Amino acid sequence: MTARSAFTRILNVEDARQAARRRLPRGLFEYIDRGCEDEVSILANRRRLDAIALSPAVLVDVARTSTEAELLGKQHPLPIVVAPTAVAGLVWHDGEIALAQAAARSGIPFCVSTQSITSIERIAAEAGADLWFQLYIWKNRRRMLDLLDRAWAAGAETLVLTADTAVGPNREYNLRNGFGIPLKLSWRAALDVALHPRWAATVMLHALATGQVPTYAHYPAEFRTRLGREALSDEISLAKDVTWDDIRLLRQRWPGKLVVKGILRVEDALTASSHGVDAIVVSNHGARNLDCASGPTDVLPRITEAVGDRMEIFADSGVRRGADIARFLALGARGVMIGRATLYGVAMGGSEGAARVLDLLSAELRTTMGMLGARELGSIRRAEPSP
Ligand code: FNR
Ligand code: LAC
Repeated sequence: MTARSAFTRILNVEDARQAARRRLPRGLFEYIDRGCEDEVSILANRRRLDAIALSPAVLVDVARTSTEAELLGKQHPLPIVVAPTAVAGLVWHDGEIALAQAAARSGIPFCVSTQSITSIERIAAEAGADLWFQLYIWKNRRRMLDLLDRAWAAGAETLVLTADTAVGPNREYNLRNGFGIPLKLSWRAALDVALHPRWAATVMLHALATGQVPTYAHYPAEFRTRLGREALSDEISLAKDVTWDDIRLLRQRWPGKLVVKGILRVEDALTASSHGVDAIVVSNHGARNLDCASGPTDVLPRITEAVGDRMEIFADSGVRRGADIARFLALGARGVMIGRATLYGVAMGGSEGAARVLDLLSAELRTTMGMLGARELGSIRRAEPSP
């Protein structure tokens, strides 16, 4: 652990999760933390990861281990990308900038969400991180292309199209706890905020003091509205007719690397490859969308076998320990995305909190590698994962 770490009593991601739970209004915490429908998939993701055992190579000199990874042509000290997460800016004042700063300190990319509260231009100016941009396709494709121009001009070289959110997910707890976008004022919401004064002080009072009421920063200016009101136009609602034609369009228009996130079938991985996609993220969206979805660990070995020599393969959904990163790498992933873990960190303490979580995961990964006798990430592939 490096000396820079604050939050020395936070010893793992679960500690950060508990700190986030105490700090955030319940509606917001549940939006981050929970799954969908009966929440079968979120438990299943955990069980599937726990069931993967790795066989150590013994009597290997591990005095020096390296977690260095080449991700889409760039060297990074860790095989981690901070995943795109909507409304991180509600979790902490300028939460997206805080996340990007933590990513920059660890030398890893931060993927900005289409539904970010802070604009990619501000994140680029204030965080100095290697930025990727995640895209949700709006009904009006012309406006979507304008957004891509903004992302490219701000310095994002990697575009991540999220393919696993074809329709709006069913999350009943959001209806029960009153959290939703647009934010609705209610006695329950007011009480929830009043019971979490530290969150109110950092996020709400700051917004009131500066007059900067949170909004989706990537909406076209004429449609930008406070999160408390209905969206002003249907043009920027999420399209339900997204197909491989859109991938063709993006491949033509985007000069940088193109990634498709949310693949769970070998067939789709092959189609992505035939469309000139540079990488895929094998993911079930952190179990937030389809409660009967297969887990990334179920399909990763087959997908790696089919397309691993043609495209880079990332994975996510459920990383809470460095060992989980090793598990995904053992199954064929080149790197992982991390969603909730760093959000818990940022909720706990802004950029320092997110940095603490990244430091813990990094230290755990090193320990796991040492125990496995893996001097570099490539050796983790030989750990004969079972089942
Ligand atoms: C997400 N995720 C997500 N993905 C995406 O492509 N665009 C988005 O806007 C969001 N928004 C979002 C919000 C929140 C609160 C969470 C927790 C997640 C999914 C995310 O990128 C990633 O796939 C999962 O979070 C990975 O699972 P873990 O690491 O959270 O278990
Ligand atoms: C979510 C969407 C925004 O997971 O991707 O909440």
